[in-house]
Amino acid sequence: MRRQIVAGNWKMNTTPIEGVELIKGVAALKGEVCSSVEFVVAPPFTHLSEVVKATRGTGILVAAQNCATEAKGAYTGEISASMIASLGVEYVILGHSERREYYGETSATLNKKMVQVFANNLIPIYCVGEVLEERESGKYFDVVKAQIEEVVFELTEEQFEKTIIAYEPVWAIGTGKTASADQAQEIHAYIREVLKSKFGVKAENTSILYGGSCNPANAAEIFSKEDVDGGLIGGAALVAENFINIGKGFKK
Ligand code: 13P
Repeated sequence: MRRQIVAGNWKMNTTPIEGVELIKGVAALKGEVCSSVEFVVAPPFTHLSEVVKATRGTGILVAAQNCATEAKGAYTGEISASMIASLGVEYVILGHSERREYYGETSATLNKKMVQVFANNLIPIYCVGEVLEERESGKYFDVVKAQIEEVVFELTEEQFEKTIIAYEPVWAIGTGKTASADQAQEIHAYIREVLKSKFGVKAENTSILYGGSCNPANAAEIFSKEDVDGGLIGGAALVAENFINIGKGFKK
């Protein structure tokens, strides 16, 4: 059975006070959603600790949006995976397209971050996805395959079994333009095939989330697809009602 997950990536939004308010709002409404749906929120580093405290007893889990490539030392401005783990955080988002594009993250960077994440018993939510030109030229299969092969194929079977994948087409992120449910299914099924080519049937249990302008109006149709196991939500995760209503999109 694959886990159904709705994860909110808050990106560089909310102050600590706003973040705690938001999580309280989500917690208050969570009972309206089937208990099998797992909610995850990824606040900025500044309020990870407060959000973890505010989620106690709610069943909501917390993710960091990034971590350092190194374990510790003279890396001004960086936050290590062990610091993150010490707060009671469960997940780390790795390889988000904004980090690849604006901060030059490559597969080599992400391999190092994966090592740190697993060394600290955290779970990666590993993001893949193509830009518009790659979608339109039909290269998106190759792009996503390379992003998986270069990073996920480096994991051990045991690490792979814990890993969550998020497919986020860059052209759909924050644009209001979402992939159709059929487009999502096509590439999610392909991602699962690629994973199976390395890890066999274990890939049947991998949760693959869709991200990119997912909202309460389109979530149900996207989540109804066989290989879509949830969503990684940006803008709509900043309003408790919207985030919860996306969770209500699960029918299966
Ligand atoms: P939006 O939902 O705002 O398009 O963002 C998606 C995303 O990048 C989540 O990581």
